[in-house]
Amino acid sequence: MTSASEVDPSTVETPVGVVDLERVRANARRVAAYAAEHGLAWRPHIKTHKSLTIGRIQLEAGATGLTVATLREAEVMSELTDDLLLAYPQIGPTRLERLAALAARVDIKVALDSVDVLEPLAAAMVGAGVRVGVLVEQDVGMGRVGVQGPEEVVALAQRATDLEGVDFRGVLLYPGHIRGRPSDQDDGLSAVSDQVGKTLEALETAGLSPSIVSGGSTPTLWGSHKVRGLTEIRSGSCIYFDREGLDLGVAESSNVAYSVLATVVSTSVPGRAVVDAGSKALAKEARGGAGYGILADHPEVVVVGLSEEHGVLDIEGTDWAPVIGERVRIIPNHVCVSVNLNDHLVARDGSTWRTMPLEGRGRGRWSR
Ligand SMILES: Cc1ncc(COP(=O)(O)O)c(C=O)c1O
Repeated sequence: MTSASEVDPSTVETPVGVVDLERVRANARRVAAYAAEHGLAWRPHIKTHKSLTIGRIQLEAGATGLTVATLREAEVMSELTDDLLLAYPQIGPTRLERLAALAARVDIKVALDSVDVLEPLAAAMVGAGVRVGVLVEQDVGMGRVGVQGPEEVVALAQRATDLEGVDFRGVLLYPGHIRGRPSDQDDGLSAVSDQVGKTLEALETAGLSPSIVSGGSTPTLWGSHKVRGLTEIRSGSCIYFDREGLDLGVAESSNVAYSVLATVVSTSVPGRAVVDAGSKALAKEARGGAGYGILADHPEVVVVGLSEEHGVLDIEGTDWAPVIGERVRIIPNHVCVSVNLNDHLVARDGSTWRTMPLEGRGRGRWSR
């Protein structure tokens, strides 16, 4: 699917992810305004949407550049901006060759956390006659990737400064371990802020001041200004939001811009209704035993079970009486993984519904 065509909402085949473009624009404006109010740039992570249409809306709303996780996403988004952050360590000759091709055209920065990634990357860029920016990633509590403290940040930043082919540009952190309600986040944010503060002091002392300090997530979105020294946030899921955003109180139902349109296919089992959106449409992302999603129009109805093509709704606590063939909209627990399960989405803009390609989906090279 490479171009958009109009679809009839009453006959569009389900299950399919549906995006509300008016809400997307409103979300983009709200996040950009929050960032501007606090002197932060917004460089949204586009892994959530993987779409040129949505990336364009983010940039029009004031995003200063885009963050990507894969080279495919970088290649696609280089059509929209020449300010890209590839927030993933790049290893291996084909990746480095694709990275070099991008670096010849756009300002691309790569986040990494070891000399074992940095040195081959720098050598490959020297070989290709290009330069790539480097952000040193620091683990601030998630325990996924990232060097373990200020001394290690300084050492890697120094190595990047000494090497040809790369430029040390700054520091990256992802506070993915903070997933409570905003009112319960202050201790977590303050711990992150202390760590970033110490890192910035150590870099300053070493004469290696970063021009970029990149942080942010959707759960901590509205508290990003509480982290000392950030220059930008990469909050990404906030373009659509999902059940997690609702549960945390980071979004209201009127902000949720993505749902999976599904059809009721069975009501035979008492207390249950089954829809055609299973784990291959919603993604089987657990939320502490609380099911896999909720109905947008009957939020008391939870998707309590998933087979690949069956979504099982618990209808015991609702007045809603589903009938076979009825269409429902499901808000998944985690939007990014559900989006990625679609071949294409349907974007609704007022009363017009069109197919929307997911250009950044997959890993192969992007070409028109
Ligand atoms: C490195 C990095 N930056 C930014 C984000 C965006 O986070 P969120 O979707 O919570 O806004 C993610 C999400 O996984 C990430 O891994």
